[in-house]
Amino acid sequence: KKDQWILGIETSCDETAVAIIKNGREIVANVVASQIESHKRFGGVVPEIASRHHVEQITIVMEEALKQANITFAEIDAIAVTEGPGLVGALLIGVNAAKALAFAHNKPLVPVHHIAGHIYANRLVTELKFPLLALVVSGGHTELVYMKEHGHFEVIGETRDDAAGEAYDKVARTLNLPYPGGPHIDRLAHEGCPVIDLPRAWLEEGSYDFSFSGLKSAVINTVHNAAQRGETIAPEDLAASFQESVIDVLVTKTKKAVEEYGVKQLLVAGGVAANKGLRSALEKTFSDGKIELVIPPLSLCTDNAAMIAAAGSVMFEKGIRADLSLNAIPGLDI
Ligand code: KG4
Ligand code: ZN
Repeated sequence: KKDQWILGIETSCDETAVAIIKNGREIVANVVASQIESHKRFGGVVPEIASRHHVEQITIVMEEALKQANITFAEIDAIAVTEGPGLVGALLIGVNAAKALAFAHNKPLVPVHHIAGHIYANRLVTELKFPLLALVVSGGHTELVYMKEHGHFEVIGETRDDAAGEAYDKVARTLNLPYPGGPHIDRLAHEGCPVIDLPRAWLEEGSYDFSFSGLKSAVINTVHNAAQRGETIAPEDLAASFQESVIDVLVTKTKKAVEEYGVKQLLVAGGVAANKGLRSALEKTFSDGKIELVIPPLSLCTDNAAMIAAAGSVMFEKGIRADLSLNAIPGLDI
């Protein structure tokens, strides 16, 4: 059987990324141009700046990926691109690049949902075994997704307000830590003790939804109230307490869902999957070997295009195609 080559493009937020994968699972090129430095001084992603960087970077990143893979467009079977969700101006750069290339080289165009991409990052690590559950935790998303087969996504729980990564970034800002704050809180948390009592939003009995805005506000209030009394709170203790609260809710709900849905695998996806505390809590919780826990390496947890190509490979085989009217959909449902 002939090898399958998929080129993936991802520009939904602040990374311009192009990757090429072989036979759905083997990375042959994976190029990511991060814009973090440009957004840092604003404490978060500025959409207009993101779009401009994507325009500047997309051709350079594309050429680098083709060079790494040492192939030409003639050998590519399909072009997969993130169509949403994300920042509309950012998404449009990737979508238009994909359309231009698909037209110029007469290649099929495969639209990919960003979260499907995060989930399929796991297929670059191991073969998926269904039914499975994916815990998606990123700067924009916190979702528990049930999959009974390839390409089938059922969201059984999601955040009702802030995403987990968003809460990390906002708490980091309160503690005067640089953007993105997740890794800084993670590091601080390991130096402190979870001695500060913070809330956990369990929501209604049986719900797999999440809520992190109450926790975020509790952290901000704790800092402000202490400042008013002329006291300071050890930032490492606050980070440890916040992190414990987030992990407690994520792991408890995930464990319940794993049991209720009787899945074979638990996949973890998104930037917050890089969190050391979360990784070790999940490893401990699922150490009995009843299910297989899969957590991709750091570079595949944060935004990249290999994950988009991995999801695109499956969608391509399922016959999913877009024509040149493909548009970016910022609020796309999975
Ligand atoms: O998946 P991602 O790269 O972008 C989105 O699609 O949102 O995730 C970025 C998020 C940021 O909020 C960042 O603070 C968080 O992932 N993050 C972490 C860690 N590393 C990155 N959060 C907690 N602990 C970490 N070690
Ligand atoms: Zn993402």
